[in-house]
Amino acid sequence: MVVEMHAGLASDGGSKLKMLLTFVDALPSGSEEGVYYSIDLGGTNFRVLRVQVGAGSVIVNQKVEQQPIPEELTKGTSEGLFNFVALALKNFLEGEDDQDGKMALGFTFSFPVRQISVSSGSLIRWTKGFSIRDTVGRDVAQCLNEALANCGLNVRVTALVNDTVGTLALGHYYDEDTVAAVIIGSGTNACYIERTDAIIKCQGLLTNSGGMVVNMEWGNFWSSHLPRTPYDILLDDETHNRNDQGFEKMISGMYLGEIARLVFHRMAQESDVFGDAADSLSNPFILSTPFLAAIREDDSPDLSEVRRILQEHLKLSDDSLFQIPDAPLKTRRLVVKVCDIVTRRAARLAAAGIVGILKKLGRDGSGAASSGRGRGQPRRTVVAIEGGLYQGYPVFREYLDEALVEILGEEVARNVTLRVTEDGSGVGAALLAAKNFALYIGSDPTLNVTTFYLMRHPTE
Ligand code: BGC
Repeated sequence: MVVEMHAGLASDGGSKLKMLLTFVDALPSGSEEGVYYSIDLGGTNFRVLRVQVGAGSVIVNQKVEQQPIPEELTKGTSEGLFNFVALALKNFLEGEDDQDGKMALGFTFSFPVRQISVSSGSLIRWTKGFSIRDTVGRDVAQCLNEALANCGLNVRVTALVNDTVGTLALGHYYDEDTVAAVIIGSGTNACYIERTDAIIKCQGLLTNSGGMVVNMEWGNFWSSHLPRTPYDILLDDETHNRNDQGFEKMISGMYLGEIARLVFHRMAQESDVFGDAADSLSNPFILSTPFLAAIREDDSPDLSEVRRILQEHLKLSDDSLFQIPDAPLKTRRLVVKVCDIVTRRAARLAAAGIVGILKKLGRDGSGAASSGRGRGQPRRTVVAIEGGLYQGYPVFREYLDEALVEILGEEVARNVTLRVTEDGSGVGAALLAAKNFALYIGSDPTLNVTTFYLMRHPTE
């Protein structure tokens, strides 16, 4: 991971890790005040948020509205998607009293974006099953601004952020030792604060803080050291984005259930553990990750929840299972074991990824800080973390924590805290929108970053 991080920072295309610039060079400190809005698009659910902040890291008030993204919108047109988003914001704002005048909006867009400023950037490619062709290459902030204007809203995107960056922003707002953020939900990714002089591919990049948040896009991490099973290969073949997001396909919520399903299918083909009911196991994505979690967490003596899921969701009728003498409980135990293995691998890989970042930052206690800092002194390090899989699946969390301690050793691990930031991706974007409000009303606080970067990269 560390080698690939260096390669991705050295040149565009130098690694499967994109190591994207975010133009976020200063994170919220707790002194922000006012009412800000944000939109969070990118996972299974879509959210609109209103956040009222007061000085001293106080979230005075927070309102969140959430709805699932209609499946057809994820495969339709850009216009369809952004009109849906703009309309949802319009509905949300009805009844709000502070909507006169211009409003700054934080836009969390959880896909790889090549940013050219903190408030603009073009979509590199879709992930997590989205596939709207006409959005690729377009400035997604502009797409949203146009849809907002068409709805008659006097709102403008002043911060376009990845969900990892929103999470880091909220983590840092509460605790200044927060240096990285990780998402483990439908997809997975991480970002961290890098020194600008270590971002070799952008020589001349200047920021007031001397650092910039880098969106790693670690979901696309790949390495010949990563053992890949036949099930990973089968899964990859089924997806829209073959050969991409290899790490994500081993870790995130979108895929874990399907990996287990592929294992069961193979077992059904090669043995009679699933009786005559094997056919339904040939349906891709029939086992979702929340079911995989429920199977793994069933602690009833007869695994009754496992039985229910097999019957109702995998359509493995008990009848067919009962045709095999003594098979049902044994089969259910086997099913739990497979779900356990798939979960454990995912959690341990994510933990290894986190240690990669700590190593790059010189905070893994090895004393050989690859970035030259730290030299191994124990420093308190906080990693903000969020995402449905991590937050909703205790066994996954346990495995991840256990692996962190195993890799770092107990002493170093004591200085590393994983902190869940509730709704961080959206709230953090609102806080960044607050920081960049001046962008919209006149002066440009990010001028330093953008101007110097553009001087060096005139074609951008
Ligand atoms: C996307 C990232 C995002 C992650 C978590 C991945 O599929 O490429 O940009 O941060 O999912 O939502």
